[in-house]
Amino acid sequence: MKNLTRLFGSMAVLVAMAAPAFGALASDPVYDKQCSKCHGKYGEGHPDRGPSLQTTTLSMEDIKNVILNGKGKMPGYNGRLMSSQVDALAGEIVDVSKNAQPH
Ligand code: HEC
Repeated sequence: MKNLTRLFGSMAVLVAMAAPAFGALASDPVYDKQCSKCHGKYGEGHPDRGPSLQTTTLSMEDIKNVILNGKGKMPGYNGRLMSSQVDALAGEIVDVSKNAQPH
């Protein structure tokens, strides 16, 4: 019985890991707090606040630069986010943009 509980436990972890990348950005508390008000809950964009991140063609490196230094009306987050958070955000954005664009 104990083993069965453990089995179901690890299955839940696997299912969570296999969740679509869409969810990764939306369920990142940093994204939710800092970015979603301009870029939408799923990175779908906002008509007058920020463009869709699902259609970005920027590379991981360029995305990190935008997050750190800002762009146009977007503030830079250098010094406000840890580099691990910036890396995670950039990776999640690359993932949603791949989801949105068949390639
Ligand atoms: C105040 C609103 C606002 C906030 C908050 C904001 N952004 Fe932006 N973001 C923008 C705007 C506006 C642009 C377009 C800038 C331009 O091209 O002039 C942009 C551009 C971007 C781009 C480049 C997209 C492209 O294809 O050129 C990325 C990536 C991005 N934002 C990610 C983020 C992330 C991650 C966060 C949270 C850490 C965030 N943004 C927070 C408004 C915002």
